[in-house]
Amino acid sequence: MSTAQSLDQVELIDAVHYAEHGYPHEAFRLLRREAPVYYFDRLSLRPFWAITRHSDIVEISRRPDLYLNAPRLVVGADALTGESGALPVRMLLNIDPPDHSAYRALVNKRFTPRALRDIARRIDAIASRALDDMLACGEESEVDFVREFSAKIPIWVIAEMLGVPEQDWELLFDWTNRVLGAADPEYREEGKSPQETLQTARLALFSYFQDLTEERRSRPKDDLVSVLTHSQIRGEALPVFELMSYYFLIVVAGNETTRNAASGGLLALIENPDQLELARRRPDLNRSLVEEVLRWTSPVIHFCRTPVRDVTIHGQTIRAGETLTLFYPSANRDEFVFDDADRFKIDRQPNRHIAFGIGEHVCLGAHVARFELQVIFRHLLARLVDVELAGPVERLRSSIVGGIKHMPIRYRLLPSADAA
Ligand code: HEM
Repeated sequence: MSTAQSLDQVELIDAVHYAEHGYPHEAFRLLRREAPVYYFDRLSLRPFWAITRHSDIVEISRRPDLYLNAPRLVVGADALTGESGALPVRMLLNIDPPDHSAYRALVNKRFTPRALRDIARRIDAIASRALDDMLACGEESEVDFVREFSAKIPIWVIAEMLGVPEQDWELLFDWTNRVLGAADPEYREEGKSPQETLQTARLALFSYFQDLTEERRSRPKDDLVSVLTHSQIRGEALPVFELMSYYFLIVVAGNETTRNAASGGLLALIENPDQLELARRRPDLNRSLVEEVLRWTSPVIHFCRTPVRDVTIHGQTIRAGETLTLFYPSANRDEFVFDDADRFKIDRQPNRHIAFGIGEHVCLGAHVARFELQVIFRHLLARLVDVELAGPVERLRSSIVGGIKHMPIRYRLLPSADAA
């Protein structure tokens, strides 16, 4: 890593750079110190202001009346949005007040810790099953941890919450990979552009959920599709497009993010053997381990806000309609908030990370994700005897979600009967 970086060289939004080098923590550090509100006008993108300090991101996120999520939610010529940065769906993330809270209230109860108690046992069984599947490769073996383990659990859990029957979980898995990874050649359909790949997968998802909606309309069950199908906003059922967008958001938002926290968390433990040893010795640190994994991996790279009037932050005037880009991984290494910010410490206290964002749009699935990760690390640490990397870590080509595509590991496991 070079140390002589200058402001006009910082790389913040190039997806290829993320795939090749991971998060640009050095650039973030420079920006936090020297230019916390930095005008980025390069790469033939519509310019944006990069916001990198924890306190600024918190403050902006807490003023949804002044800083809107619509119309430009992300920057970058990402396949999901095209050049405009506007999402092709209408969903919580790009609905602003006053409508936002009404839309969020439709499913909020399903995501509370109390509601999760009802599905806790199922999540636990899902994690245990994924680990057993990995064991099928042998108690001592080499596997791609992402493909064999961390990718499966989040999508299975979401599928279960939505009410998707188990035989269709693989389909869902495949479509979401293509939606999120459309910019990455590995997930792109042959002969198709990223936009075409995304569009095909999105239409397949929509059509699948349209059928499921019809089924639940006449025969409701205890699942999210049934709840949303029978929901109303101002006395009216949700229009089909909004209903589909809602499912789409839940499927996409909870999948890649949680998967990458799990993979990135294991990677951090492998790279910090003292912390791995501590985590094994102190199962009581499970919750604190998960919070540190979230801070460290910070799977969502950025979201944007658009001010409704001119504002001045740290002496910079931002005009109404311009773009502010909030970089969560930078906030989560902010030296003003975290002691020893660049060290992975599973017993970190306090840990005021904002990996789930904060304020009006704070992650709806935060309790689900936390619970999943707690279950994942409890199962892994109880059964992994040895673990090390068995090859290079391959990252996803995206500047929205920081992803690990492949992570070959060599491990030795205790058979489940011997595990704690
Ligand atoms: C480690 C895993 C996860 C991370 C890091 C994460 C991160 C985030 C972030 C940063 C936001 C935007 C917050 C803001 O603008 O202030 C968000 C929103 C959201 N997340 Fe997550 N998320 C994760 C898992 C999940 C899961 C499991 C689900 C669903 C099952 C989910 C559903 C959503 C939804 C629906 C929103 C939009 C909320 C709104 O606009 O009101 N997320 N998430």
